[in-house]
Amino acid sequence: MIRVCVAGVTGWVGQPLAAAIEAADDLDLVAAVARSARGEPLGRLTISGSVEEALAVPSDVFVDYTSAVAVKDNVLAAVRAGRHAVIGSSGLTDDAVREIDEAARSAKVGVLAIGNFAITAALLQRFALEAAQHLSSWEIIDSAYAGKMDAPSGMARELAARLTEVRSPDVEVPVEKTVGDVTARGATVNQSRIHSIRLPGYTIGLEIRFGRQDERLTLSYDGGPGATPYVEGTLLAIRRVREFIGVTRGMDRLL
Ligand SMILES: NC(=O)c1ccc[n+]([C@@H]2O[C@H](COP(=O)([O-])OP(=O)(O)OC[C@H]3O[C@@H](n4cnc5c(N)ncnc54)[C@H](OP(=O)(O)O)[C@@H]3O)[C@@H](O)[C@H]2O)c1
Repeated sequence: MIRVCVAGVTGWVGQPLAAAIEAADDLDLVAAVARSARGEPLGRLTISGSVEEALAVPSDVFVDYTSAVAVKDNVLAAVRAGRHAVIGSSGLTDDAVREIDEAARSAKVGVLAIGNFAITAALLQRFALEAAQHLSSWEIIDSAYAGKMDAPSGMARELAARLTEVRSPDVEVPVEKTVGDVTARGATVNQSRIHSIRLPGYTIGLEIRFGRQDERLTLSYDGGPGATPYVEGTLLAIRRVREFIGVTRGMDRLL
């Protein structure tokens, strides 16, 4: 039995995730966090109002589906308390990932930081890494619902970080030499250019466009309105995280 603590348990992903953990034979939901539901019952347990309170209950794996603002401190607290961690929340910078990695290595626990748990998103990442072995120029477009506060998305940041393992993209006109408004060229993240769109009617999506003389390749992912793909991927990560030490990024590494 893997004992699990879920932070963000009343959320769009947290709620169905908690139900799926309770329904699984090999997983046991032992603690849960949501500030506004503090003290409310959830199955056999009572929801905690803070991560510190929830970590007082013994558990094996801490899962974070809270927010870009809270995730770093939550995960550092969990890792320092000896928990393996699965990070769903977006918004972690590379510096924050490095800090969590150091803490996880010194506590000898695993952390899976996955920008998007959906299988189709994992496949896009895998195909993009393969394409980058052959194509040296690309830009990334990250799209999401109007209310998403963080940009670029966790998935876009993760893809940019993973692409550095293959190569740096070729750039013909250095961005700082742009004539006009340099911000029109998007953000540079790990040398990749990322353009973030936030609009009503969108859920979550990512496109990577490769360009080459006289030809183009576009890989495109679109998430639908339900949380099922993220729940399925998160359950897999909960089951596998104890195989790792330190931070591992990318759902494709679990496939
Ligand atoms: N990696 C992926 O595949 C994936 C997929 C979907 C979403 N996400 C990311 O996951 C995060 C959550 O998404 P969501 O749509 O489920 O959000 P949501 O519906 O807004 O739910 C957030 C949950 O976190 C709790 N929460 C917020 N701040 C907190 C804090 N400081 N301490 C403790 N609990 C806190 C909320 O309850 P209270 O406000 O009552 O505390 C609520 O239960 C976002 O960063 C989103 O971008 C990632």
